[in-house]
Amino acid sequence: MADGEVAAHYSRGDLYQVIAKALESAGKDLANLEPADLDPLEHFHGRGIAATADLAASLTPLPGQEILDIGSGIGGPARYFARTFGCRIVGVDLTAEFCEVARRLNEAVGLADKISIRQASATDLPFEDGRFDAAYSQNVSMNIADKAGFFGEAYRVLRPGGAFALSELALGDGGPVIYPTPWSADGVHSFLLTEQQTVAGLTRAGFEMVSVVDNGPAMHSFLQAQRQAVAREGAPKLGPFILMGADAREKGRNTARNLEEGRTRPIEILCRRG
Ligand SMILES: C[S@@+](CC[C@H](N)C(=O)[O-])C[C@H]1O[C@@H](n2cnc3c(N)ncnc32)[C@H](O)[C@@H]1O
Repeated sequence: MADGEVAAHYSRGDLYQVIAKALESAGKDLANLEPADLDPLEHFHGRGIAATADLAASLTPLPGQEILDIGSGIGGPARYFARTFGCRIVGVDLTAEFCEVARRLNEAVGLADKISIRQASATDLPFEDGRFDAAYSQNVSMNIADKAGFFGEAYRVLRPGGAFALSELALGDGGPVIYPTPWSADGVHSFLLTEQQTVAGLTRAGFEMVSVVDNGPAMHSFLQAQRQAVAREGAPKLGPFILMGADAREKGRNTARNLEEGRTRPIEILCRRG
């Protein structure tokens, strides 16, 4: 039931058409889309493609490796990994419409042979034990109440020694989170943990911690640069706001305020299956 409500929160009904229209109005040729044409809109998390690049660098993927993207959204991070490192990506996501859009975009930019997408929950992964060389998850756990199920499943499907990288919004000490945010309209189905609780949960699942990075300074620079760009050039035509529905601007403002007031904290965690 809760899974269905989370998927309903993200579903738009006409998302592929909305993306196609936005790309066209930004002057992109839909019949000859390049992977980079999607960069500004397909990374559905703070700091966009820069956050994905940082996370990917921490995993150092190798060509031919098979990597799991847990909560793959419309597939932006998966396409970045596949085209940059030549690895194979399996993406799982709860939201059927996001899975469908991800598959269509994989086809549109010629990456469908490197990426497969399954609709499934992070807490019940449809894969055999030890299958993946590495796994990552970006801005997904805030929707998952059952953290033990999520971390336990990630551990189970990794090969021994396999790395798991997460970029997360952790709870800060600046007061209650202000909604709506991109992941929740009103705080229902929002399950943020502190950094310490997240590390403890991963450790309980069996992971060995490698590093925890505070992405606060990078996020603050990003928000500042974004505001300067809007002041200079006006609102952008393309951005992850396209994925967020009618109240996207309010969600964006609250996201910035939550970060700047320390209500949420962006962190990146790297750990390893023992
Ligand atoms: C903010 S989006 C991030 C998408 C993607 N990771 C990215 O960074 O572009 C959160 C995603 O988590 C997915 N999600 C939420 N709960 C999930 C669960 N239990 N299992 C799998 N996916 C889930 C949502 O459907 C949505 O696509």
